[in-house]
Amino acid sequence: MLRHIRMFLWIAVAAFTVLLIVLAMNPAASRKALSLAGGGIGGPFELQRTDGTTYSDRDLAGVPHAMFFGFTHCPEVCPTTLWELTGWMKQLGGDADKLKVVFVTVDPERDTRETMAEYMTSFDPRIVALTGTMEQIETIKKAYKVYSRKVPLEDGDYTVDHTASVYLMHGDGSFSGTISFRENSDTALEKLRRLVDKG
Ligand code: NI
Repeated sequence: MLRHIRMFLWIAVAAFTVLLIVLAMNPAASRKALSLAGGGIGGPFELQRTDGTTYSDRDLAGVPHAMFFGFTHCPEVCPTTLWELTGWMKQLGGDADKLKVVFVTVDPERDTRETMAEYMTSFDPRIVALTGTMEQIETIKKAYKVYSRKVPLEDGDYTVDHTASVYLMHGDGSFSGTISFRENSDTALEKLRRLVDKG
């Protein structure tokens, strides 16, 4: 029995060593492994832009992107983040065009295409705003491991608790990292610059 355990441990050590060597020699594999460490965030989705055209993961293929999930009735997190993203895009200058910034609603019941189009006039017009059916929104939430939950308000209305981080994704669809809510602006900008550089 002990011998079996020892043998298993040796195999585990050997496998781990091989993995480290492969990762050191192959940046793409390394990125993939990191993406797995990121919990396999990302994946296929199909939603609608405010003009009614379909927008899917295929539209993001090959281009690094920043994804943010929220809702237009949001009192603080969403307007703040979209406003900050607008500022960072301005600071990135021409580099902002090498990046796609996407805002996905987690409240498709209220966030119709018209509501979102109106809301987005306050922010950088390059930010792609997406809505869809409940099912389509559930699919992308699951892919990005986004949390959101309706919370009833006393007046019969509701608000939505939701993941506040911006997801940074490489052009190959793998996960790069996040920008936290109210993250230091210089740090956030640096992350976006690095994402543009790496692609
Ligand atoms: Ni919000």
